[in-house]
Amino acid sequence: MLQTGYRGPHALSTRGWLDFVARLERREEIALVRSLTAGNGKALDVGGGTGELTQAVAVQLGGCTAVEPHTDRATVLRETGIEILPGSAEHLPFDDGTFDVVLANWILPYVTDLEGALHEIARVVDLTHPEAKVVIIGGAPDNELVSLLNETCVPIAEEPPDDQGYLLSVAEEVLKSNGFSRFTAHRTEAALHFPEAGLDERVRAAAQILVNFWYEDHPAAHEMLTAVEPALRRHFSRRPHAVGDQGVVLVARP
Ligand SMILES: C[S@@+](CC[C@H](N)C(=O)[O-])C[C@H]1O[C@@H](n2cnc3c(N)ncnc32)[C@H](O)[C@@H]1O
Repeated sequence: MLQTGYRGPHALSTRGWLDFVARLERREEIALVRSLTAGNGKALDVGGGTGELTQAVAVQLGGCTAVEPHTDRATVLRETGIEILPGSAEHLPFDDGTFDVVLANWILPYVTDLEGALHEIARVVDLTHPEAKVVIIGGAPDNELVSLLNETCVPIAEEPPDDQGYLLSVAEEVLKSNGFSRFTAHRTEAALHFPEAGLDERVRAAAQILVNFWYEDHPAAHEMLTAVEPALRRHFSRRPHAVGDQGVVLVARP
C-alpha cells in the first residue's frame, strides 16, 4: 500500500551500515553524481555517511562539506578539502544560499522531520548560481533490497512498509515550494554482492546484512533472520550473487 504520510525514520545502526557498505557496488551512481556536479563550485553533502559520494565530489570540485549526525561513520575520507560537521538535515548550520549544489543521498528514510529537512536543504542553495541544484537519491520502485525487507522484516516489526517513491514525491513538492521548478529523474543500478560459492553461505550472509540494515537492535531480529532466509533463496535462484539497490536520482534546479 502506498504511503500518504511519512512512516518515520528507520533505525540505521553504525555496524549495520558499515557491513552493508562493504558489500555495495555503486560505480554507476557515483559516476552520475560526478557528472551532475561537474559545473558546480561549492557543495554540501547532507548525511554523507561513510563518504564515498562526498569524496567523489570533493575530488572533482577540490572540496566538499558534509553534515552527518554520526561523524564516526566517515571511514573512507582521505581527500583534503573535505569538511565534516556534526549535525542533521533538519538544522543545517549554514546561512541561506551558502552552496550551489546540495546532495542528499539515501538519507530521507532516516530523518525525523521529512518536510523540515527538505526545507532546510532548499534554504542553503544559492538559487542565483547558474548551476544551482539539489541532488537527491532514493530507492527505485523495483529496488530489490527494499522489496525483500518490506516482504519479510517490516511485517514482523509491525511497521508501515517503506515507500521510497513517497519520499521523492514529497521532496519534489517541498522543493517546488522553495523556488525549484525544473526536475529530472535518472535511474541507477547499484547492488550488494555476495560472491560466496555456496547457496547456504550466501543466504546466511545476505540475511544478516538485510536484517542488520534496519533492525540490528530490534527485539525480533532473530525471527526476522528466519523470515528473510526463504525469500533470499527465491531471490538467489533468479539473481545468484547480488541483491539490487536500484536508485532514482532526482535533480531539482530553479
Ligand atoms: C544510508 S546512509 C547514506 C550515506 C551517504 N549519503 C551515502 O549515500 O553513502 C544514511 C545516512 O544518513 C545519516 N542520517 C541519519 N539521520 C540524519 C539526519 N537527520 N540528517 C542527516 N543525515 C542523517 C546517517 O547517519 C547515515 O550516515
